Amino acid sequence: MKRRLAFFLLPLAAAASLRANTYEIEEITLPTAMVPEVSGVTFTPDGQLVIVNRHGEVWLTADPKNGPWRRFAFGLHEPLGVFAASATEIFVTQRPELTRLRDTDGDGAADRYETINDDWSVTDNWHEFTFGLHLNKEGDFILSTGLPDLAGPLNTLYPRVPLNMEKVHEERKPSPGRYEGWVLKVDRDGRLTPIASGFRAAAGVGVSPDGEIFATDQQGDYVATSTLVHVQPGRFYGHPASLKWAKDYDGPLDLPELAKRRTPEAVALPHGTMGGSPGEPVWDTTGGKFGPFTGQIFVGDFTKLISRVYLEKVAGEYQGACFPFIRDAVGLEAIQANSGADNLTIPAGRDGLKYFRDVPPRSGTPLRPGNMRMAFAPDGSLYVAQTTRGWASGDGLQRIVWSQRTPVEIATIELIPDGFRLTFTTAMDAEKLGDVSSYRLGRFRYLYLPSGSPRTDEAEVAIRELRVAGDGRAVELALEDLDPGYIYELEVDPLRSAAGDRVENPLAFYTLTRLLDGSLFTGPMSEPLLIAEKKTDQGPNPENGLSIYRTFCVTCHQPDGSGGALPGATALPGTPALVAADFTLRGPEAPLSKSDEELIRFITHGSEGSPMPPFGGVLKPNQITDVLAYLRSAFGGDSQALSPTPTQPE
Ligand code: HEC
Repeated sequence: MKRRLAFFLLPLAAAASLRANTYEIEEITLPTAMVPEVSGVTFTPDGQLVIVNRHGEVWLTADPKNGPWRRFAFGLHEPLGVFAASATEIFVTQRPELTRLRDTDGDGAADRYETINDDWSVTDNWHEFTFGLHLNKEGDFILSTGLPDLAGPLNTLYPRVPLNMEKVHEERKPSPGRYEGWVLKVDRDGRLTPIASGFRAAAGVGVSPDGEIFATDQQGDYVATSTLVHVQPGRFYGHPASLKWAKDYDGPLDLPELAKRRTPEAVALPHGTMGGSPGEPVWDTTGGKFGPFTGQIFVGDFTKLISRVYLEKVAGEYQGACFPFIRDAVGLEAIQANSGADNLTIPAGRDGLKYFRDVPPRSGTPLRPGNMRMAFAPDGSLYVAQTTRGWASGDGLQRIVWSQRTPVEIATIELIPDGFRLTFTTAMDAEKLGDVSSYRLGRFRYLYLPSGSPRTDEAEVAIRELRVAGDGRAVELALEDLDPGYIYELEVDPLRSAAGDRVENPLAFYTLTRLLDGSLFTGPMSEPLLIAEKKTDQGPNPENGLSIYRTFCVTCHQPDGSGGALPGATALPGTPALVAADFTLRGPEAPLSKSDEELIRFITHGSEGSPMPPFGGVLKPNQITDVLAYLRSAFGGDSQALSPTPTQPE
């Protein structure tokens, strides 16, 4: 009897939590013979769907819902991009080359595989991917290349020319790979022109409707958070390992020089909250078929997230805002999946935990992870190609369809002289819109450091004045502090539409690189501003050391000092550890059993060939003794441990 009751109750309870989705996710059934790690998606000019998979095949169908599918090509080397000139002429990026596949005898399968260009090179390091494939206005192919993982600084170990192709698989870094970390162009005659350098792994390249090139880069060494970059010829975007292939390269550069050369991103995608690893940017060119975001950019992520980007030109350069768009279980689930130390999706820090409570309940098919490639179909729906490369479960192809109901969202955030103007997709509840307590604002920076950087100089920002626009769809927030060089974080959870609905994604980040008058951040790129400098005559200060530890060391050594394996890293025999030291160890081998002198030397100079960076150029000598004092007081078995603030949400 009991059992039957439960049977009746379940569907009812489920129905009560159902909410009408403004966007529906549909599953596309793939041919059973195909390994579903879909690593590229596009449409032929006559509307046929073309996908590639990581296992090296190209598949086509004229009817994604019902099939049939046919395999057009196979045996390719990890293709991560595809462009279809027609159903008989398809281009793919393989790791080592750009290839044209042609069906010349009309049997539906390619019979000619032709090398268009292979002037870049990769080695067998797993991270040396070749990404993308889009055409610019002139019809040139745009693609990009990844550095080896943990590529380290600019190296002189391998000469620029002649190209040294000796076996390198026993070396972790650097790599002789040519033009790695670049966005490249291959013209119609098959000639390669390097466009811009400084990428860690520009896993997504895209060309805007105006023909401008953009790329997403991946958080890691030198790249503090993932980014969307406006790619301009000759510019350098931050990771130095690629620089030696630049025309004007004349020797290694130190961090301050690199910082001067670096062009900042258009939009930062704050790590953890806005995903962990972004894919291809696509522009909403559907003219309204995909909802109210025409002209905006969608960026898929390796986590269960697709985000949305609004760009504006300020003082001649792009900057703007990013918003979550569809996020299924970004947060808790992703973080739990990350508890195995080799999963590099989301850091289990507070940045990742902060928002998981806000994920709006969606009904129907959930979004999978691995959203690295996307394309709009002729009918205005968004196809999402998913490959997780074994790092998570779930690969395949999904399609996102607008339900014709207007989502309640912040449509745009624009910079105004004294703050930001928010425009919504629909009229808002006037009372809440005009209430200062509906908004929470903060800001932070990322530092430019070899080790990467967590959020730094974080602070709340107060609203000085609030101005509601006449039609109830916009509001201007004048801020107490509006300074270039910060990422502004905004939460508007209490807001409601005029019809009483919540904002679907009440979270946004605006990357304020420059103010309207063009002024830029003038402070140090690689140093925090908020760490108070203590007077030298008072001896080491562990409190000050704690804030230094939180800023510079926790990413690797963990809040509890236990260290752990670095993401994606497997140490090779005879190479230094890829595991950050465990400060809680005891005994003669324990890191903290060493003398102050030894440890200060180690922190100052780092460890050759290991991810432990040298902090001599970043921290002042008294800051190094402060952080050491903190290590000893917190982890050295001393009873008065100062523990870092808890990372759990309140
Ligand atoms: C990018 C990751 C990373 C960051 C950031 C980092 N470390 Fe390390 N650290 C390591 C690794 C890896 C090791 C082990 C290196 C080895 O054994 O060669 C290590 C080892 C150490 C050791 C042990 C030295 C020994 O002789 O056993 C100390 C002390 C240390 N780190 C302090 C710090 C301090 C202080 C900071 C912040 C100012 C910091 N580390 C930031 C990765 C990091």
